[in-house]
Amino acid sequence: MNKPERFSPNSQEAKDIAYHLHPYTNPAQLAEQGPMILNKGKGVYVYDSEGRDYIEGMAGLWCASFGFSEKELVKAATQQMEELPYYHSFTAKTHNPAINLAEKLISVAPEGLEKVFFCNSGSEANDTAIKMVWYYHAAIGKPEKRKIISRKGGYHGVTLAASSLTGLAYVQQGFSLPLDFAKHTTSPNYFQESHDGESEADFVKRCMNDLEDMIAEEGADTIGAFIAEPLMGAGGVIIPPEGYYDALQPILKKHDILLISDEVICGFGRTGNMWGSTTFGLKPDILTCAKALSAAYLPISGVLVTDQIADGMAIQAEKLGQFGHGYTYSAHPVPAAVALRTLELMEERNIIEHVRSLAPLFAERVARLGEYASVGHSRSIGLIGAIEFVAKPDTRIKLDPKLKTAARVMKMIQDAGVIVRALPIDGIAFCPPLIITADEINIMFDRIESVMPEVDKLVASLA
Ligand SMILES: Cc1ncc(COP(=O)(O)O)c(C=O)c1O
Repeated sequence: MNKPERFSPNSQEAKDIAYHLHPYTNPAQLAEQGPMILNKGKGVYVYDSEGRDYIEGMAGLWCASFGFSEKELVKAATQQMEELPYYHSFTAKTHNPAINLAEKLISVAPEGLEKVFFCNSGSEANDTAIKMVWYYHAAIGKPEKRKIISRKGGYHGVTLAASSLTGLAYVQQGFSLPLDFAKHTTSPNYFQESHDGESEADFVKRCMNDLEDMIAEEGADTIGAFIAEPLMGAGGVIIPPEGYYDALQPILKKHDILLISDEVICGFGRTGNMWGSTTFGLKPDILTCAKALSAAYLPISGVLVTDQIADGMAIQAEKLGQFGHGYTYSAHPVPAAVALRTLELMEERNIIEHVRSLAPLFAERVARLGEYASVGHSRSIGLIGAIEFVAKPDTRIKLDPKLKTAARVMKMIQDAGVIVRALPIDGIAFCPPLIITADEINIMFDRIESVMPEVDKLVASLA
């Protein structure tokens, strides 16, 4: 199956097919079509091996907030490599990049989050958060509080615990997941999940009733935490309905259930505030972040916790001798130095103001896509948005998922010079680097609109 016959044996394509196991890729399709090789980036553009330019309309994987050629970040990495290319933070060791990044991150964190633990990826951060919930509850004499509630359609990563919490079948099928500590409640997807004629307020009430029912059925004394992306990213750029978190948080409080805000996509300016939690009014006990923390130039993630949790963990660690968790690369000095410089650059360049100033244009361009017959819903906030395809105009009737409509449209848009992402709700996501300019937003959406008449024809022919 994997014989690279279509490509000359010594080509990069052939070698990639022969040797490289790709994440989230169909190997047969890769062997048939070959990989897309991107070796160069500049600003919001990336270039394929033939020199064709693409606007990276997804900032890679919702992460490259400063685009693909930020010299300041390269400098921060190089300087740190020369000074101390590696050291760990086990057994009370540390170094200036770890100390300074921890201080800086806590200084910009939502109120109440006072300490940070470093990991390498969003998945690791979420696994760590879950272990902290278990450890903390064991410390305060409630070791049975182990279940974690997430939402259908939520994305929290792919390590064992994180993929159990992810509420998307494609992450679990074939792996006999989820593990049984993970419970999935109703998605706050008003467009698809509301009943005909149900108001947003009534839909929120129903989501809360479903949650209360789940808590009653499982037993509040067995539930440790609720995890939520402030807005769901990979599951479909689902912006929660008005009042959703205001209704949710008192329920969690009442049942002594911790709130984990997964800010892996929403963090660092994406929604027009530093945190999605600020935009949507969450007051988390634990916050996980990654991706734009280092503008994606090097892997680093963080788990931020309240003093209450940190103190509980300290008591347990004292009893057991240590906090028995950590990664070889926790607070690695090079990504830490890059992350620190990223946070400084966000301030020096007023990135959040920049996002806010561009959000109306971005919203207008996303909304304009919503006027095409094939698009049933469009939405955006800050510099993140999506469109969703429907079988019949002005309805929410879905196309057969087997038709892979969104994946086909993604390819059409890519051929027009914009890299976007197909979403499992049969839509397309937009999440460009935060440094994008107004002109570049217009170029991005002009390129997308250039294929929309063809997209309408395609969807009409498939419906
Ligand atoms: C909200 C959210 N959480 C967690 C993750 C997992 O992060 P990683 O791929 O770095 O493990 C992602 C990845 O896209 C994400 O979007």
